[in-house]
Amino acid sequence: MNILGIETSCDETAAAVVADGRRVRSNVIASQIALHRAHGGVVPELAARGHVTAIIPVVEAALREAGIERAGVDVVAVTEGPGLAGALLVGVNVAKALAYALGRPLVAVNHLEAHVYANWLMLPPADGSSPVAEPPPAFPLICLLVSGGHTELILMTDHGRYHHLGRTLDDAAGEAFDKGARLLGLGYPGGPVIQRVAEAGNPSQFDLPRAWLAESYDFSFSGLKTALLRLAEPYRLPQPSEPAPTSGPFPEHRAAAFAPDAPLADLAASYQAAVVEVLAVKTARAVVEFGAKTVLLAGGVAANAALRARLRDEVARRCEPELGPVPVRYPPPALCTDNAAMVAGAAFYALRRGAQAGWETDIHPRLRLTGT
Ligand code: KG4
Ligand code: ZN
Repeated sequence: MNILGIETSCDETAAAVVADGRRVRSNVIASQIALHRAHGGVVPELAARGHVTAIIPVVEAALREAGIERAGVDVVAVTEGPGLAGALLVGVNVAKALAYALGRPLVAVNHLEAHVYANWLMLPPADGSSPVAEPPPAFPLICLLVSGGHTELILMTDHGRYHHLGRTLDDAAGEAFDKGARLLGLGYPGGPVIQRVAEAGNPSQFDLPRAWLAESYDFSFSGLKTALLRLAEPYRLPQPSEPAPTSGPFPEHRAAAFAPDAPLADLAASYQAAVVEVLAVKTARAVVEFGAKTVLLAGGVAANAALRARLRDEVARRCEPELGPVPVRYPPPALCTDNAAMVAGAAFYALRRGAQAGWETDIHPRLRLTGT
């Protein structure tokens, strides 16, 4: 079954064709990063307008790369939320029009569930051969979902069955990376650039706070950001012409300039280590408590190499003595950040549970992950 997925919840216009929930036949992403970079973050109105111009060519490219005609699409799936309202509207309306015109079922997909299901996808090998069928993740599993807007620790007992264990009380992990990068004048988006700069740094050089919040599975990253600001301040060059910090859509977005001897690599490495440690330790604790058979990472921050490594270490150290080896899985980096293959993948399993959407389907900008 070929599902055409469409994703426009934030700043990527994406379309993809996935066969039977797992085999990625095409995955096309038109990134708006260049459009938003000058502002230091995603500007909703610009994102919506960008989707309008990109969506049709992106859908056409996804069909072409998959080698199918429109008539070869069996189901149309689209992200209904959470996300930016104006951005979601573009994808939902295009998907409705396509499904109606083709006489195919429409499936409305929760963006968070789509990130989780990126772990079921298989990319075609570079040499064009068929992918080797990896076994799907085994239940019950613990999924750490870390993106620009969300940080959630989830126990998943079966397809579509989610039990929330914890979430962020303030900034999401991706937001923490983005704000940290802005404070260090490293640019946008913050996660990849912090990871790159941190490679040359010492993660133990600066002592940054970890918000353990006692035994809970919740997270908090806003104190960490303030601590980074204090550590970086002495190295900042004075900027007499600097605009007022409260102006613009992203107040921290100022052209931060640092002395040449500023330890930016050590600051980035120490900051990344602080974010990653709490995420990895709490996830491993949950794996032990719930006797999980698999650990999944999902969302844009799952692309972070330090998080992947730390999570593997914590799971091996804390879980193996009690449970034996527990596989830690994460999508390839291109499927961690926003894409439409994950939307098509999640739709396949949702459809098996009867989740077909009607023509009255609307956007849900504040949608949460439910289904326990
Ligand atoms: O899932 P995603 O593409 O969009 C949302 O649904 O929010 O996640 C984007 C977030 C951004 O905050 C970005 O800085 C972060 O994922 N990110 C990373 C990395 N790549 C993307 N964070 C840490 N390390 C990375 N390599
Ligand atoms: Zn996302």
